[in-house]
Amino acid sequence: MCGIVGYTGPRSTARVLLDGLKRLEYRGYDSAGAAVLTPERVEVVKALGKVRNLEAAARKKSEFMAATGAGIAHTRWATHGAPSVINAHPHLDNSGTFAVVHNGIIENFRELRSHLTSRGCKFVSETDSEAIAHLISECYEGDLVQAVAAAVKRLHGTYGLGVISSRHPGLLVAARKGSPIVIGIGKGENFIASDVAPLLSYTREVMYLDDGDLAVLTPDSVEVRNVENVPVEREVARIDWDADAAEKGNYAHFMLKEIYEQPETIANTIRGRIDRQLNSAVLSGLGLTPRELASVSRVVIAGCGSSMHAGMVGEYYFEDIAGIPAEVEQAAEFRYRNPIIEPDTLVLPISQSGETADTLAAVREARNKGALVAALCNVVGSTIAREAGRGIYLHAGPEISVASTKAFTSQITVLLLLALLMGRNRRLDSTDGARIADEIEQLPDLIRQVLDQAPVIEKIARRYARFEHFFFIGRGSLYPTALEGALKLKEISYVHAEGYHAAELKHGPIALLDENHPVIALANNIPGRDKMLGNIQECRARNSPVVALVTAGDAAVRDLAGDVIQIPACSRFAAPLPTVVALQLFAYYVAVERGCEVDQPRNLAKSVTVE
Ligand code: G6P
Repeated sequence: MCGIVGYTGPRSTARVLLDGLKRLEYRGYDSAGAAVLTPERVEVVKALGKVRNLEAAARKKSEFMAATGAGIAHTRWATHGAPSVINAHPHLDNSGTFAVVHNGIIENFRELRSHLTSRGCKFVSETDSEAIAHLISECYEGDLVQAVAAAVKRLHGTYGLGVISSRHPGLLVAARKGSPIVIGIGKGENFIASDVAPLLSYTREVMYLDDGDLAVLTPDSVEVRNVENVPVEREVARIDWDADAAEKGNYAHFMLKEIYEQPETIANTIRGRIDRQLNSAVLSGLGLTPRELASVSRVVIAGCGSSMHAGMVGEYYFEDIAGIPAEVEQAAEFRYRNPIIEPDTLVLPISQSGETADTLAAVREARNKGALVAALCNVVGSTIAREAGRGIYLHAGPEISVASTKAFTSQITVLLLLALLMGRNRRLDSTDGARIADEIEQLPDLIRQVLDQAPVIEKIARRYARFEHFFFIGRGSLYPTALEGALKLKEISYVHAEGYHAAELKHGPIALLDENHPVIALANNIPGRDKMLGNIQECRARNSPVVALVTAGDAAVRDLAGDVIQIPACSRFAAPLPTVVALQLFAYYVAVERGCEVDQPRNLAKSVTVE
């Protein structure tokens, strides 16, 4: 949720930190700050709101801008204490010698605070994180690494930490438990960050810390120690994403860029994964033999937000294509509900970031119960991907916009590939396999056809942008698509939008329908379409304005609805993808019309690493 950047090396530390924070802006935050070392002291700058506010404040301090050596920076998403300059990180101990940035939540912070206060520490902020700076100071006996190691032993909860000290100019210490820290390895310089985005302009060589790890960085060395303080080797990974992939280019917003990237990102998701001889899918990261795959008796999918909606689409695929019972669990429920998991249950955690706290907890719970676990993640080397041990990467490239778009369509594509593989492993014959493989390969083109209609969708969206309440209704696999469409709209335009199964509308929500409650009806020509026509009539009878998403050329629906968005003809398996792209565009244009901050919606974070 919060973002961390740290640097040690010969460049302008302030420049590296500020640029890095800008690349983390997408994570969602309310304030930002940075600390650098000048010959005399730790110099800190903080600001509320955007990184550009922090930059403006930093530029007024020439010493800050001129500093080289170790430095740390942070974008905060408030958990303990309101968004304010005082609560923004970095936090200092009372002597101003140690500076700390922290992601995560310190659960024993009240105990620590009263202990430290009794020892004379004065807390200036309301944060749990400040306690860490005081604790390091208390543990310090001339060795910063030893002080951080001793301090983190006393922390309960989760942390990703970056620490510097005026006593150790080139030294940057990082630690991780529950909140990701990735190290960027450069030449004569090294970096830390909460994800790879800020590192890409400097290096592609990265190292992910494991829980309990402590890393010691100087410009020329990186050393990692485990919980027992024993030096350990961590694998160096190479990131394929280039810095351009994390740039907006000519698009007004990352969200729009990512919506438009979908033909390409889906093609990347599919590339090399269709076996035309077997008319099946090749998913090598799964690491399951056909026999192991055939022994799976049930699929349980766990995720949050859009990833959960993708899982709900997948549920249809597994049952329909592969004939395997499948169910979807909200990841937090999965964890606390004590689910029934047997050794032949395949658990599929889905997470774009691979860092969502509840989904990670679900992975641990499933592994503990002896299930086969295979993660669907976008971020290579993320915690969920690593802990699951097996899985399928989305290959959608960096998703910067908080509202998920291209990751969502790649998740659905991967689920369709997996259902094809499992189907062919069972009852699905080669001809049907070939048909589904064709449909998968046509997905990029279907999406392209929807993108071509962006001007029509924009026009409709601008007209509907004045409404404060929306219903999105669908049936079959377009039911979770409706949930996702409603989620997009509320996430970025702050409009009240509810996704409903079309049949459920009569069980309550219909009471709300009137001329101020538009209904977005997903009425593509797939099973359930005729019933949708009836539902649209019910809505119109209550004066609700209706926007219908219809299969191109479907005149019957066109005459019923007030406004129509055409979706290219496709099968029921493919339909959620082009349909959701139209809904993404609709939400985007409504948000733009309402003047909303599309890429950084209020109160939201890209990656929810706290429960
Ligand atoms: C946050 C994001 C959503 C995302 C969800 C799950 O709420 O704002 O866009 O769908 O987390 O994230 P994940 O990285 O696990 O897919």
